[in-house]
Amino acid sequence: MTAAMASSRVLALGKDLVGLESLSQEQILMILDTAEPFKEISERRIKKVPVLRGKTIVNLFFEASTRTRVSFEFAEKRLSADTVNISATGSSVIKGETLVDTARNLEAMRIDMVVMRHGSSGAAKFLADRIPSNVINAGDGRHEHPTQGLLDLLTIRDHCDRVQGLKVCLVGDILHSRVARSNIYGLLKLGAEVAVCAPKTLLPSAISDLGVKVFKRIEEAIEWADVLNVLRLQLERMEEGYVPSLREYNRVWGVTARRLELAPQDLLILHPGPMNRGVEIDSDVADGPHSVILNQVTNGVAVRMAVLYLLAGGQPGSAEAAKKEAGA
Ligand code: CP
Repeated sequence: MTAAMASSRVLALGKDLVGLESLSQEQILMILDTAEPFKEISERRIKKVPVLRGKTIVNLFFEASTRTRVSFEFAEKRLSADTVNISATGSSVIKGETLVDTARNLEAMRIDMVVMRHGSSGAAKFLADRIPSNVINAGDGRHEHPTQGLLDLLTIRDHCDRVQGLKVCLVGDILHSRVARSNIYGLLKLGAEVAVCAPKTLLPSAISDLGVKVFKRIEEAIEWADVLNVLRLQLERMEEGYVPSLREYNRVWGVTARRLELAPQDLLILHPGPMNRGVEIDSDVADGPHSVILNQVTNGVAVRMAVLYLLAGGQPGSAEAAKKEAGA
C-alpha cells in the first residue's frame, strides 16, 4: 500500500467510529458494501482471514453486553487480530482509575484500537479525542450505538433490496435508546422515511426536530410501516414511573400477533435485543415469519468486521477489493 493510498483510506472513514450522525451517506454505504464480502467468511469451516494480523484490539466494556461484545470479539478473531477483553468489574476502574488513565496505560502496551461501551453519553468521543488509537463506540449512554444502526441498515437492505423510500418505524423506549438515535441518523441519510411510536413519557421532547414522524397509536404505526424496529423497554429505568405497568405497556403498545394480523405479509420486524418477551414484543412475533431478529445478529459480525477493516486502513468502496484483501 502506498502512503497516498493509506492516507485516502484514513480519510474515507476517519480515525474513529463514534456515531452515524457525523457520517455521510457515502461513508455509510461504504461500510455496508464492505460488510457484504465479510458475511461469507463466517460461513466457512475455518472462519479466519489474515486481514488484521498484528493488530491489537482492546474491548473495554463498562456496561453489560452479550451481542455487541461477543460479535466484536468474533469479528476481531475472524480477522486475526489479537484481542483483550476488559470489563469494569475486573479492572482498576473500580479502584477509581479514570477512563483516560485506563486507556493511556493500555496504549503504553502498544494497542491499535479500542472498542468501548460506556454508560455515559459522549464517553466514546471523549476518549477518541484523547488517544491516538482508533476508538469504536459500542454504545455510549443514550447517545449512539453506531454498529447496531449499521447492522440494522444492512438487515433491512438484505430483505428489502433498498433502504431509500422505505417507511421505518421505531417502536418503544425512544427516550433512553442509543439504538433509536443511530437508526434515525442512518435511515434518514439513506433516504428512508422514519417514524417513532411510543408513550409520550418515552419520547424525547424535541424528537420531531430530528425529522421523524410521530405515531401515537401502535396500530397506526403497523399500518404505515414497511419495517418496525421494536426497542427494548429499559426495565432498569422503569421504577422512575415512565409507564403504569409492564402489563399495561404490552396491552397498549406491545407488538403482538393479533396486531400484526392486519399488517402486510412482508412487514419486517427487527429488535436489537435483549428482548423483553411479552412486554414490547410477544414471543409469537419475535419467533414468527416477520422477524429478522437473528439475521440482525448474524449481520452484526460482518458489519463489525467491515468497520474494523476500514478503520485499520482497509480499502473502502469496493466489495471486491475487500474480498480480495480478505483472501476470499
Ligand atoms: N443490541 C445490543 O447492544 O445488545 P447487547 O447489549 O447484548 O450488546
